[in-house]
Amino acid sequence: MARITLRQLLDHAAEYGYGVPAFNINNMEQGLAILEAADKVDAPVIIQASRGARSYANDIVLKHLIDALAEMYPHIPICMHQDHGNNEATCATAIQYGFTSVMMDGSLKADAKTPADYDYNVRVTKAVVDMAHWVGASVEGELGVLGSLETGMGEKEDGHGFEGKLDHDQLLTDPDQAVDFVRATEVDALAIAMGTSHGAYKFTRKPDGDVLAMNVIEEIHRRLPNTHLVMHGSSSVPQDLQDIINKYGGEMPQTWGVPVEEIQRGIKHGVRKINIDTDNRMAMTGAIRKIFVENPGEFDPRKYLKPAMEAMRAVCQQRMEEFGGAGMASKIKPLPLSAMAKRYAAGELAPKIGITRQAAE
Ligand code: G3H
Ligand code: 13P
Ligand code: ZN
Repeated sequence: MARITLRQLLDHAAEYGYGVPAFNINNMEQGLAILEAADKVDAPVIIQASRGARSYANDIVLKHLIDALAEMYPHIPICMHQDHGNNEATCATAIQYGFTSVMMDGSLKADAKTPADYDYNVRVTKAVVDMAHWVGASVEGELGVLGSLETGMGEKEDGHGFEGKLDHDQLLTDPDQAVDFVRATEVDALAIAMGTSHGAYKFTRKPDGDVLAMNVIEEIHRRLPNTHLVMHGSSSVPQDLQDIINKYGGEMPQTWGVPVEEIQRGIKHGVRKINIDTDNRMAMTGAIRKIFVENPGEFDPRKYLKPAMEAMRAVCQQRMEEFGGAGMASKIKPLPLSAMAKRYAAGELAPKIGITRQAAE
């Protein structure tokens, strides 16, 4: 079976110059859709579960679901990742249930709402890094608070995220601080803030550099060329999915997401993990709405969940291809957690700061 850690997968992505979409799941249909897409194009996958997903689906169900997917698709490397862990316990229990990677989001305090200070973020992230690396699991940290550069507002998504107004500098990761953060915590991947936010309502127009600060990514990559960068809130909120939802009775006001070409630009500058949930939610919702409107007498869930899965599969497959992951699964030989633990213990995976990737190899 091909479970892989985030670190090993993103090291491979950096070596071959591609990005890996990280798709959120809450149920079997979403898991099957992601793996079907990966199978079609031979792409490695990152599946992530939020705290909300873990309580919705139940840890035991999720554990067995991932086991089942790995058994069905033994040739596809699967990284199972905790999305937005709020404290050490969330991260530790994720690993206990078979996750190979965790995000310790110390940009917010344990309530997942209050912006945390830098020292707190370093302390809690480092504690999780120590614990995870002992067993070979990977850690993503976050520096900077997600929110809109258009409005200055933080974003609250199902109980996660700051609700009020933030200073402009809190919404943009400071490149010097990023260097210090990676050195102090030894995270395997770093999520940064540069104007993206969760959910469908990211921008009121097609974003330009004022509201989607891709230059921050480029600046951080210049200083940390060996650190894997993560873009959260990176759904593209495609117009056709907005149109399907609205055509079949939905009421989504016009909105814009993160254009795929901006993500592709990020991938050229160290972005290796791209978080996508909203696009898949929209794809499934559009397909279900269509069935309900066209066949109001239908009441067999399989009749609308199958088209919903198919719509999600199409989005996942498209992103795998657009981010360059197609054809990569068969090039990877996943290492077990125990082998990764030895590599950490030997100091092989410590951050390489201030040297070029080529010199580091
Ligand atoms: O972090 C945001 C993801 O879209 C997960 O959202 O907390 O509603 O599961 P959720
Ligand atoms: P979207 O809401 O843009 O899909 O972002 C998902 C995400 O960042 C999960 O951590
Ligand atoms: Zn996120």
